[in-house]
Amino acid sequence: MALTLKGCCMVRPNEATWCGRLPLSEWDQIGTITHVPTIYFYHKPTSLHTSTIINTLKDSLSRVLVPFYPLAGRLHWINNGRLELECNAMGAQFIEAESSSTLEEVGDLSLSSEYLYHLSPNVDYTLPIHELPLFIVQFTTFKCGGFGLSLAISHAIADGQSALHFINEWSRFARGEALEMVPFLDRKVLRAGEPPLAPLPAGHGRSEFENPPLLLGQSTNMEQRKKKTTVEFFKLSKQEVDGLRNLANLSWGNPSNGRGYTRYETVAGHVWRSACKAREHKNDQPTCLGVCVDSRCRMKPPLPKGYFGNATLDVVATSLSGDLVSRPLGYASSRIREAIEKVTDEYIKSEIEFLKNQQDLSRFQDLHAMRSDKGPFYGNPNMGVVSWLTLPVNGLDFGWGKEVQMYPGTHEFDGDSVLLPGLDTDGSVVLAICLQVDHMDAFRKHFYQEESC
Ligand code: COA
Repeated sequence: MALTLKGCCMVRPNEATWCGRLPLSEWDQIGTITHVPTIYFYHKPTSLHTSTIINTLKDSLSRVLVPFYPLAGRLHWINNGRLELECNAMGAQFIEAESSSTLEEVGDLSLSSEYLYHLSPNVDYTLPIHELPLFIVQFTTFKCGGFGLSLAISHAIADGQSALHFINEWSRFARGEALEMVPFLDRKVLRAGEPPLAPLPAGHGRSEFENPPLLLGQSTNMEQRKKKTTVEFFKLSKQEVDGLRNLANLSWGNPSNGRGYTRYETVAGHVWRSACKAREHKNDQPTCLGVCVDSRCRMKPPLPKGYFGNATLDVVATSLSGDLVSRPLGYASSRIREAIEKVTDEYIKSEIEFLKNQQDLSRFQDLHAMRSDKGPFYGNPNMGVVSWLTLPVNGLDFGWGKEVQMYPGTHEFDGDSVLLPGLDTDGSVVLAICLQVDHMDAFRKHFYQEESC
């Protein structure tokens, strides 16, 4: 696909906003601190010229950046792998491009990651971090008049919940509506910038989180990190999800709490098992599955509505591959539920305290997009399944109708996957998954084989 860049500008808040340095919470500074891309595709509206669409997007963006002014700022490294946010109204980047393809050619689920790569803003991580905009938009027009809107938002500023809060408010402004929920910007509710309360007791650690298991026989994850990866999308209909859910509920004891397994626990368990099979692990291979848990409602008291920042933490479900593969699906789901149930108010507070006590946060930062081989690795023999199932990812209407398709952008990391709701609100689920090229065919076979039996 040939892509021509047509223009690039900074969109700044259209009113004066607060300027100064803001401390970030520990959760803002660990995990992915690069940009998270999503892409929305739209048919050309019959009555609107492309220039009108672009002007509407830019104008509403400059207005929504007033209440969401942290996104117009820039990050700075301070010390010991820690970051701070400078609110300086430098603005969000708006790129305009033209593609030689049609929407029909790129807009279906067989889309290759190469297309997604071209349509996503290309962030140059060799630049100093304070030169990188925190929100980047790429508007790409296709030959047919349809267009793609790629959004890349810095994960150091907003997690999925907050990113979608911002994006949905932007679309409301574009439609001429008022702000629905004021973002709550004071990160001090997560003790941002505060020192630890006390030194950690000797021996306190989070061994599961810090050291995901390695492939048996290997002493580092270097070999696995270097393997070529590919991204694919797999769709499950509501009936298929319900079938798996029945299988999970009936196949392994009773789910704890007497509550049947959720779609997430079921499908993530199925992904984990299928990956173990595809990777042909030995039976005694330890494996873990990373689960990203939103703490907003798990804290006491819950975080204020509209909290804008990162409020998620990762926990891991662990097992032996042999147990996952030989036992029924309900076993995998039960391991995942057990991990999620750990996340109580007490656990969350102790995690914050643990991170505050770390001399240096670098080893908790996923810098894969910066071509670094440091930081946590959830590739073979492990997995990460992030849920977007309850996030408002679909139905983004800027005034010319909802998207015809939405994709998470490329995640080039072996073992990285996202579960999102199907577009049609028909209860279907889409899995976007990145695996080593050598494992993808076998994964596809196992993923659909078990589902059909
Ligand atoms: N809207 C609609 N449904 C909701 C909902 C919401 N806001 N919140 C919960 N539900 C539904 C869920 O869909 C689920 O029903 P289902 O089985 O039919 O899918 C049920 O209520 C229970 O949900 P939950 O308690 O959240 O459990 P889960 O197993 O679906 O998900 C987690 C577990 C840990 C993934 C989830 O609690 C969580 O934290 N999600 C947010 C992850 C996130 O922030 N992702 C972005 C990362 S940047």
